[in-house]
Amino acid sequence: TGKFTYDPGFLSTASCQSSITYIDGDKGELLYRGYPIEQLAVNCDYLDTCYLLLNGDLPNADQRANFHKRVLNHTMVNEQMQFFLRSFRRDAHPMAVMTGLVGALSAFYHDSTDINNPEHREIAAIRLIAKMPTLVAMAYKYSVGQPFMYPKNDLSYAGNFMHMMFATPCADYKVNPVIERALDRIFILHADHEQNASTSTVRLCGSSGTNPFAAIAAGVACLWGPSHGGANEACLNMLGEIQAKGGVAKVGEFMNQVKDKNSGVKLMGFGHRVYKNYDPRAKLMQETCKEVLTELGLENDPLFKLAMALEKIALEDDYFVARKLYPNVDFYSGIVQRAIGIPVQLFTAIFALARTVGWIAQLNEMIADPEYKIGRPRQLFTGAAARNVK
Ligand code: CMC
Repeated sequence: TGKFTYDPGFLSTASCQSSITYIDGDKGELLYRGYPIEQLAVNCDYLDTCYLLLNGDLPNADQRANFHKRVLNHTMVNEQMQFFLRSFRRDAHPMAVMTGLVGALSAFYHDSTDINNPEHREIAAIRLIAKMPTLVAMAYKYSVGQPFMYPKNDLSYAGNFMHMMFATPCADYKVNPVIERALDRIFILHADHEQNASTSTVRLCGSSGTNPFAAIAAGVACLWGPSHGGANEACLNMLGEIQAKGGVAKVGEFMNQVKDKNSGVKLMGFGHRVYKNYDPRAKLMQETCKEVLTELGLENDPLFKLAMALEKIALEDDYFVARKLYPNVDFYSGIVQRAIGIPVQLFTAIFALARTVGWIAQLNEMIADPEYKIGRPRQLFTGAAARNVK
């Protein structure tokens, strides 16, 4: 390959050194700063996880109280943002809206736009974590034509998001603690995942010295794709289509389509570049799914039954076994979110909300690295040799 190593899809290229998230894809193991995801999902909340990812360790009681207070102080967005949001079509995809809104934050918070200034980065981090739920809820309220609900800072991070999503000025929304905990767990499970496509995008974008909000907006844009964060929406749409055609009885027929390479059909929510074993997030998500459906009296949810049937067949089928394809985080997350009342189109925006902290932690780590330079991949040129215009 001449002077440069050619590695399409970065299958064997480490783009950075990182001490944030560790994945053992063969074992199906995921650690944030050394802590197993299974323990974080049970013993910590999302804001503890944010603190951990940003600072390297879990907070003590004072650090925890202080961090929670700081985040809650920044939950409102500049009132002018409403006018920007109102210029979108109401039927715009929430990820189109989010890409715009997050990028626009850089036009409002001038004291946190210098990526090379640690104080700017710190305040940008708090602002982004605090404002993402507000922006996602605003995008939702706008799409359904309801008034925006301001954040209520006596609620938890997840509870506040539910309030902004589901309360109206005429009716309070009572946060169900089981659902609140489930949503918080969804946030924890999505908080970071080492050098995936959107995180690598954020690093590359930030490496030019652009402002942190612009770098995170680039991450949102990348996450949107169905091979990445958009898979949760695509997975639920897939389940809906199979259900409409006959449900569990049609699973075999659908699987034959998936295995036919000419069909272009994939089993969404299955497969992963790194996991060649069960994605530990999918296991936790499946448990959460059962808890939420039971709490809401939806134990017989047909899409959950359908997902379980697809999983059972796939785990025993030669096609999937040979390729080590297992359920990933997106396989069950859509069913949980739909049961909570979150519209399908919003699923990827919620992934973006939760992943924001990972993007910021990775950006901070990159800038603090003494070997950090602008990212500038090379190429193997395959075009025409030099020639003259006649
Ligand atoms: N359904 C059917 N076949 C599949 C699937 C699937 N979901 N995923 C991979 N394969 C096949 C693929 O066709 C290939 O077969 P062959 O070796 O015969 O050509 C083989 O398995 C290896 O797949 P690949 O596409 O080379 O693997 P990759 O590492 O480039 O892609 C992936 C990983 C996640 C993009 C892919 O598995 C996929 O498209 N999955 C469905 C979308 C999805 O669920 N994405 C969410 C990923 S997890 C959330 C996140 O972090 O974003």
